[in-house]
Amino acid sequence: MSIEKYIRDIQDFPKPGIVFKDITPLLADAEASKACLELLINGLKDKKIDKVVGAESRGFFFATLLAYRLGAGFVPVRKPKKLPFTTITATYELEYGTDTLEMHTDAIKKGDRVLIHDDVLATGGTAKAMCELVERLGGEIVQCNFLMELTFLNGREKIKQYDIFSPLKY
Ligand code: PRP
Ligand code: MG
Repeated sequence: MSIEKYIRDIQDFPKPGIVFKDITPLLADAEASKACLELLINGLKDKKIDKVVGAESRGFFFATLLAYRLGAGFVPVRKPKKLPFTTITATYELEYGTDTLEMHTDAIKKGDRVLIHDDVLATGGTAKAMCELVERLGGEIVQCNFLMELTFLNGREKIKQYDIFSPLKY
């Protein structure tokens, strides 16, 4: 099954000039969602993943499904001031300004084998920040896993020391 036809382009969202890749048609279709999960999980079943770390908010959709299927725990990385317990913070550069992500201090145990998941790899800032948070708590990154990659933004470069998997490229 080709899942690409369940991802629609929205012109000029959220800003003029940007073409947004909308995965809600994919999420709304049971067979397409299942096919997508199989694609993402391919090659990971024997990797002994302890935790799947997903980025708020669109990363949560498949990260929790991956965690369930891999028999792993799920860890949310969230935007500032959303997590209730003590957090560690990573700040990364945007085109104009910076952004920050947070994770609970007890979310990863030293030596945990971690799968990083997000829906899109764009500039790589989000993924790099997630890797930094995991490694500061002593986790080992097994793979950075994305549904799609916007190759023209070259996000791969920022996380090139890791295994990167993204079935769809635009
Ligand atoms: C989008 C996307 C990725 C991130 C990728 O999230 O879902 O998480 O940007 O961009 P980067 O590689 O340049 O860091 P967004 O911040 O729009 O938030 P959302 O997931 O809550 O919609
Ligand atoms: Mg996101």
